[in-house]
Amino acid sequence: MKLIAGNSNLKLAEAIGDHLDVPLTRAQVRRFSDNEVFVVIEENVRGEDVFVIQSTSYPANDNLMELLICIDALTRASAKRITAVMPYFGYARQDRKVGGRTPISAKLVANLITRAGANRVLTMDLHSGQIQGFFDIPTDNLLSTPVLAQDIRENFPKSRDLMIVSPDVGGVVRARALASRLQADLAIVDKRRSGPGVSEVMNIIGDVKGRRCILFDDIIDGGGTICNAAAALMDQGAAEVSAYVSHGVLSGGAVERVEASALKELVVTDSIDGPDIVRQSPKVRYVSVASLIGEAIRRIANEESVSKLFD
Ligand code: R5P
Repeated sequence: MKLIAGNSNLKLAEAIGDHLDVPLTRAQVRRFSDNEVFVVIEENVRGEDVFVIQSTSYPANDNLMELLICIDALTRASAKRITAVMPYFGYARQDRKVGGRTPISAKLVANLITRAGANRVLTMDLHSGQIQGFFDIPTDNLLSTPVLAQDIRENFPKSRDLMIVSPDVGGVVRARALASRLQADLAIVDKRRSGPGVSEVMNIIGDVKGRRCILFDDIIDGGGTICNAAAALMDQGAAEVSAYVSHGVLSGGAVERVEASALKELVVTDSIDGPDIVRQSPKVRYVSVASLIGEAIRRIANEESVSKLFD
């Protein structure tokens, strides 16, 4: 097997390599002065099972082009099988037409990755499960729930007052899966969006009084969803509120918003490499999914079951 990393998340790629005891294949992914991407794979990959590790996070378009161009280089270098490993799949929120004359960009990105020459996709916590169907190649959608549930068990030992909270109706299935893994109760925030990036809490379904609440979501971007939900839960008498989120997009002033919020702590996975301002925030903590992704890669390479990881 060969592992190749784009520039989006080298730390995670190296940690995956450490888990598998496979060094990253030497490759240069660099820019011409007009910002065009150029890739050269510096080792023979003919006949190899190659995994390209690249989250399509900020800057989303540059990172996507790096991934596509890496796949093209590998195709032309006669790799036997190419798996696009995207711990975070950007554009996932554009998974349906939201109005007349709007795109379904998640489908377009899936087409681009397939047409570039990927034979498989390995990703994690897709914004919506049906995006798997946008790819006409095998797609494994890993769940970070076991990793996050373990972290919760360690940080909230024997907490009978724990309550898992979905910050919007769309995330209920995800939050319920975590709640049942932890044998905790579930509450739901009724969120409305009045415009892009603007969210408002309308109602809370469930009695959160005196409970230690854990908000669980797939993405924290501007932070409005999680921070507004945390404030509403405290208003309803919650004892404390933390948040566990799969993908820390954290754009704009999200970190400042989190720091000024009612949240006790925000825990995100390392699917996206946070800049120093995020990594150094006293309220943000990273949990690594390197072993989870590494183990999935090992199983794919050995033609073993990936779903067994979640039994
Ligand atoms: C929306 O459906 C997603 O699951 C997240 O709740 C949303 O992307 C978070 O965005 P923000 O942090 O900007 O409110």
